[in-house]
Amino acid sequence: MLRGGLLVVIATCVALTAAVETDSIKELLKNFDSRYSTNVFEDATLNATELIRKYRYPVEVHTVTTEDGYILEMHRIPHGRDANNNPNQKRPVVFLMHGLLSSSADMVIMGPGSGLAYILAEEGFDVWMGNARGNTYSRKHVRLNPDALLSTAYWKFSWDEIGRIDLPTMIDHALKTSGQERLHYIGHSQGTTTFFVLTSMRPEYNKKIISMHALAPVAYMAHNRNPLLMFISPYANNIESIANLVGVGEFLTNNAIYTWAGQAMCRDEVVFQPLCSNILFLIGGWNEQEHNATMLPAILGHAPAGASLRQLAHYGQGIAGKEFRRYDQGSRLSNYRTYGSFKPPRYDLSKITTPVFLHYSDSDPLAHVNDVDRLFRELGRPIGKFRVPLASFSHIDFLYGINARELLFNRVINLIRAMDANAFDDA
Ligand SMILES: *[C@@H]1O[C@H](CO)[C@@H](O)[C@H](O)[C@H]1NC(C)=O
Ligand SMILES: *[C@@H]1O[C@H](CO)[C@@H](O)[C@H](O)[C@H]1NC(C)=O
Repeated sequence: MLRGGLLVVIATCVALTAAVETDSIKELLKNFDSRYSTNVFEDATLNATELIRKYRYPVEVHTVTTEDGYILEMHRIPHGRDANNNPNQKRPVVFLMHGLLSSSADMVIMGPGSGLAYILAEEGFDVWMGNARGNTYSRKHVRLNPDALLSTAYWKFSWDEIGRIDLPTMIDHALKTSGQERLHYIGHSQGTTTFFVLTSMRPEYNKKIISMHALAPVAYMAHNRNPLLMFISPYANNIESIANLVGVGEFLTNNAIYTWAGQAMCRDEVVFQPLCSNILFLIGGWNEQEHNATMLPAILGHAPAGASLRQLAHYGQGIAGKEFRRYDQGSRLSNYRTYGSFKPPRYDLSKITTPVFLHYSDSDPLAHVNDVDRLFRELGRPIGKFRVPLASFSHIDFLYGINARELLFNRVINLIRAMDANAFDDA
């Protein structure tokens, strides 16, 4: 229903846009050292590895298979382009995990100098980017077909499985390949949820993580103000039966429509840009001040990148139930069969012994200050809680914000450096 609504909006604006003269793209600046994208329309059509190559950064693609058969694609920028670019030097590993409906492209789409992955590579880190099952890059399985018409078996997962199964598989691979024993973790939004799932359900993984930096942390959702998730929450326990009726297990996959719509309607000179921005708002919060509208076509070329309905339903359950629990199977009986209790168990945050830093903002609809405070109190080893010093900073600004580097990334990098120095002292 939501998806249908979105497509109607898109179709309407595409129809209107056709009347507007679409001028040819003049600028073919090949200024590779630019801080920004050289061509946002081109960037919209390139995938993450092509983007990284375009900006002349080293990139590796790694494929891992989880114990339950999901084939995941990871992207690595092993070293810097302009600085820290000796390939033979060993460097600390930083693992980046994207949010709901996103992908590794989040970390590079804003271009060199602005994208978190590029900045970290220039600062001397070995950067690994994960992709959760079901997104553009990890939409594969040894046996199950994500596009099967009669079965949604592929899509029977929430962020519980991403945290318990995908993350450890990818982290182990990054450690093994880089020859390191421990790494630093940066997650955005769902990338923080999945971390809390991993380190509470499989506490042995705490030993492998030197420090965790949660950008827009999402665990408790009692105060959530995201309209999409609020809409879902009353149906969170039966959304799947509705979905099964129409045979949809997947939600908002990125496809040619979005890329094309992004290019057709979201250009600077097109009057319908506010509508494009609203699509983003639905997903991640809106903030004029930090939002570079020129980048919209590029962003919409990569997000939304797909997710399962269960991921959304699981968040909806957190809003309705005000607790951070495992996925509710929909009935007391099936919960009992799965968990041995009528209610899904709570994730035990006290088991998380990784030093955790939370970075949050005053106006993030998905990570409300009160929810962040509660998370901080209940974590096993919370070290720091930092409010971004800009009141209007919103959920997607944590990766796309015009001033994210100055307001956020620099601090995260300083914290990682300090924690890394400590880690070596310990050893
Ligand atoms: C927004 O992005 C465009 C294209 O990458 C860039 O030229 C421009 O300088 C950016 N604006 C700001 C305020 O960062
Ligand atoms: C990304 O682009 C590369 C190079 O064109 C291609 O080999 C790869 O299959 C693409 N990946 C996806 C997920 O489309």
